[in-house]
Formats: sequence, C-alpha cells, structure tokens
Amino acid sequence: MSEQNTVLEQLLAQALTEVKTDDLKTLNDVRVKYLGKKGPIQEAMKAMKDLAPEERKAFGQLVNTVKSEIAEAVEAQTTALEQAAIVQRLANETIDITLPARHLHTGGVHPLQQVVDDITQFFRSMGYEAAEGPEVETDFYNFEMLNLPHDHPARDMQDSFYVDPHRLLRTHTSGVQARTFEARGEDQLPIKVICPGKVYRRDDDDATHSHQFMQIEAFIVDENVSMANLKGTLQALARHLFGSDREIRLRPSFFPFTEPSVEVDVSCAKCNGTGCNVCKQTGWIEILGAGLIHPNVLTMTGFDTEKVSGFALGMGVERIAMLKYGIEDIRHFYVNDVRFLQQFKR
Ligand code: PHE
Repeated sequence: MSEQNTVLEQLLAQALTEVKTDDLKTLNDVRVKYLGKKGPIQEAMKAMKDLAPEERKAFGQLVNTVKSEIAEAVEAQTTALEQAAIVQRLANETIDITLPARHLHTGGVHPLQQVVDDITQFFRSMGYEAAEGPEVETDFYNFEMLNLPHDHPARDMQDSFYVDPHRLLRTHTSGVQARTFEARGEDQLPIKVICPGKVYRRDDDDATHSHQFMQIEAFIVDENVSMANLKGTLQALARHLFGSDREIRLRPSFFPFTEPSVEVDVSCAKCNGTGCNVCKQTGWIEILGAGLIHPNVLTMTGFDTEKVSGFALGMGVERIAMLKYGIEDIRHFYVNDVRFLQQFKR
C-alpha cells in the first residue's frame, strides 16, 4: 500500500515538471499521457478493486487528489500559454503612430491645359461660349467650307494626315467655324465661340514643331463687326497673357478664310521691345493669325454679308505656353517627365 502511494506521489511530481512546457501541443501530450484512458491514473483506479476494503478508501482519495492536481496544473498552464500568446501578438501588431505618414504623390494640371483654361476663361468673361469639333474631320469642313476648294494651292500650307479621300485629322480648329455657322444661322446672333482642341499636321518633329499640337480658335459673327473690334480683342488678349504693358502690331498676311488677314505680334515681354535673344533682336514676337471672316465663308453657310460680318483668330497653345514660361523645346510638353511637369504645379 505505501509502496503504491510512493509511486503515485512520484507520478505527481513527474507530471508537474512536465507540465511546465511552453508549447501547447506538448502540454496536450502530457495531459493525454497522465490523464488519458491508458494512463497511470486510470490504471490505478482499475487496480483499486484488488485492494482490501479498508485500504480502498484512502487510496481512492489519493488517486483523486493526484488526478485533480495534474488536471489543474494542465489547465493553469494552458491558460498561461494562451495568455502569453495574446500578449505576444498584441506586441507584434502595435502601430507606431509616431512614424511619419507615407508620402502621397498628387498630380497637377498640365501646363498646356493651364493655358487652355486661362484663355478659355478670358474669352468666357467676354461672353464667348466654348465649343468642340471632331478631330477626325471631313475635307468639307476642314477645307472646302473655309474657302479652300480642292486643288487650292493654299492647302499646301497645311500638310495633312488623310484617313480616307474625304476625311483627315483636322489641320486646324477653324472647321468649327463652318460647323457653328451652319448650326446657328442668322437668327441667332451674336455668335461668339471659343474652341480649343488638338490638331494634326504632317511635320517633322523638332524643337518648335510637332505632328500633333493644340490650337484655340475664337470667332464672332454679328452686325457691324469690324477690324477695330478684332484689334481691341487682340490687344486685351495679349495683355491678359503677357502683361499690361504689352503692345500689339498687325502685319498683313493671307488665310483663304479671312479677308483682310493679319499676323499678330506682341511686344517682347523680356526686353520690352528693345531687342533680345527671345525676340531675335526685333522687339516683337508673333503669336497668332487672325482676320475678318471671308465673305465666301459666311455666304456658303447662308449668311447675308450685307447684314453680318465677323472676325476669327487662331493660336497655337504650345507656342503661347513656350513664350509665357520660357520653354525652349516643344517636346517637353509630351514626354511627361515629372521634373518638367512639377514646375507647373499650382
Ligand atoms: N487656322 C489658321 C491656322 O491654323 C489660323 C487662323 C485662324 C487664322 C483663324 C485666321 C483666323 O494657321
């Protein structure tokens, strides 16, 4: 009897050391080993029936004590290990709120779009409405309705990309003039429209030429529109773009769809007209083409030129942006180098 007691006490001591593992799976193995169906406690209980009745009670109590002590130890260790695991996880998942935030890259409006927005806003403030036309344009609107019939030599000024014999990538935004006149007619005067957009010409790309570029067209049709109105508008535009001290100069020119036609120069903003490298020592910089709308253009879309007249002007957006910001190569606009673009972030 006392021999069995000693065995049980050793068993308990042994079990209590093995319980002190820090691995949950090992701990479960320990539980099965001592408390399982084939374990020593179970064996001891079976052995009880062979004992004398007077010994049975004390032995039974001892077995039960050992059993519950082991069970409690296993239970306590399980809780401790699970608790430790949670503490560990919390420590690992801690967010360091003192870390600086990740840098967010924000974009900006492209410099060409800034110029388009600025000029559009300028014309809107004078009562113009914005219009758009198709980039794949018909020969009819790009040329014919602008007084440029087939075989007219002036078509050579605008070398073009044809899609088929009757359609091409528009070479200028002037086609929107004919489209607008047709749509509006004489009973909806005044017509005051601004039209920005992409245009295309077969050109060899270099520092000042690109096969795709942008233009802004502005035109007006009403009673008594004169060269004086055009000149006033051009001067206001030049001063809006390049500063209130600017003067303009009109030189006679030729466009089939305007008569008279002019090239417009603005006094150089860098040297104030005295001559420098920007204006090639002339004091003047050419910025756009303009003129009074040719009577043929108005007649073709059904206007009575005895009653109405108009002016039109067209400018290259890239050219204006290059002059405004001192950009020396047109290709900078198209390669999307952030080092270039970032300089125009507002
Ligand atoms: N369409 C002409 C061009 O692209 C510019 C222009 C527009 C000239 C309107 C006169 C009037 O060269």
